[in-house]
Amino acid sequence: MTALQDITQDSAQPETAARPNIRPVAGHIGADISGVDISKPLSAADLAEITDALHRYKVIFFRDQQLDHASQIAFGRQFGDLTYAHPHDDAPPQEYPEIFTIDPRRQEERYGEGFRKRVRTQYSYFNGWHTDVTAAVNPPAGSILRADIVPEIGGDTQWTNLVAAYEGLSEPVQRFVETLRAEHRYGGSRGVDHDDKYAKRVNDNLLVAIHPVVRVHPVTGEKALFVNPGFTNRIVGVSPRESEAILGLLYSEITRPEYTVRFRWEAGSVAFWDNRATAHLAPRDIEHLDLQRRLHRITLIGDVPKGPDGRESELVAGRPFTNEHTVVVD
Ligand code: SIN
Repeated sequence: MTALQDITQDSAQPETAARPNIRPVAGHIGADISGVDISKPLSAADLAEITDALHRYKVIFFRDQQLDHASQIAFGRQFGDLTYAHPHDDAPPQEYPEIFTIDPRRQEERYGEGFRKRVRTQYSYFNGWHTDVTAAVNPPAGSILRADIVPEIGGDTQWTNLVAAYEGLSEPVQRFVETLRAEHRYGGSRGVDHDDKYAKRVNDNLLVAIHPVVRVHPVTGEKALFVNPGFTNRIVGVSPRESEAILGLLYSEITRPEYTVRFRWEAGSVAFWDNRATAHLAPRDIEHLDLQRRLHRITLIGDVPKGPDGRESELVAGRPFTNEHTVVVD
C-alpha cells in the first residue's frame, strides 16, 4: 500500500458519518455550522470543510457547544499555532496562557473603577469597529470567541466583510487605495497620566506597524480593505487633513450595514472569524445595565500582510504577536 492510499483510507468517512451543515446567514458574511461537536478532534474532512467555510463566509458560528479552556485551545490548534492571550493581558487563566477573557468587570478590578469610561476617551480600540491587534506587524490570522456568561438582553457582536467593502468601491478608488499604506498603533500617542497604570503600560510598550491599506489574503487571494477605526492611526505620506478624509471614506465603506452580520450569543456559542478579512464591533448597549457578560478568546498567530504590489507590512515598534508575553510592566 502506498503512503497516499494509506492517508486516503485513514481519512475516509464511514458512509453514515454526519457532515457539518453549513448555512449562510446574511448576504455578504456569516454562516451557522451545525452537526459537529467541536470539543472533539475534527476528522480531516470536517477540518477542511470548516476551513473552507471560514474563508468563504469570513465568520462562522457554532451553537450549544460544550467547550472549556482546554478544548477551546485544542479546537483552535487544529487551524494553526496560537498566540499568547493578548499583548496587554498579564493574567490569563492559570495553565492556559492562550486564553483572553473578555469581561469588563475583570478590567475594572485591575485598573480601577471607571476604567472603561477613562480608556474610551483615550484608546479608540475600546470604542468601535476593529480587527484584532492590527497594531502588530503580524495581526492574528483568526480569532475564536466562546461565550461563557451572556446577558439575557443585548450584548450582540457584529462583523463586517472587508473584502466586500473593497469590492464595493469604484474602480478608480480601488486603484487609488491600493497605493496607500497606513500606520496602526496601540494607543500611545497622548501624554501619560502617571496615576493611570493602563496608560503607562501602553506607552511603555508601544506597538506600531505599517500595513498596506489593501491586503491580499494569503489563501483566497481576495483583496480586503485593511483599515479599522480601532487601530489605524493615519495614512502614511499624506497630510493629516487628507488622511482624515481618506480614512473617513474607508470607515464609512467598511461599516455599511449590508456588509455586516449580527450575532446573538447564548452560553456555549462560538464565533470563529477570519481576522484577515473582517472587522468586528463589540457591544456597548449594556454598559449602563448591571449585567454580566464573559467570553473567552483565542487567536491564531498571523502572517505579515502583503499589499497588491507584494510589499510587506513593516514593524515600527514592539514585537510580532506570537505565543510569547512580551509586554514589560514596572
Ligand atoms: C473582541 O473584540 O474580540 C470581543 C468582541 C465582543 O466582546 O463581543
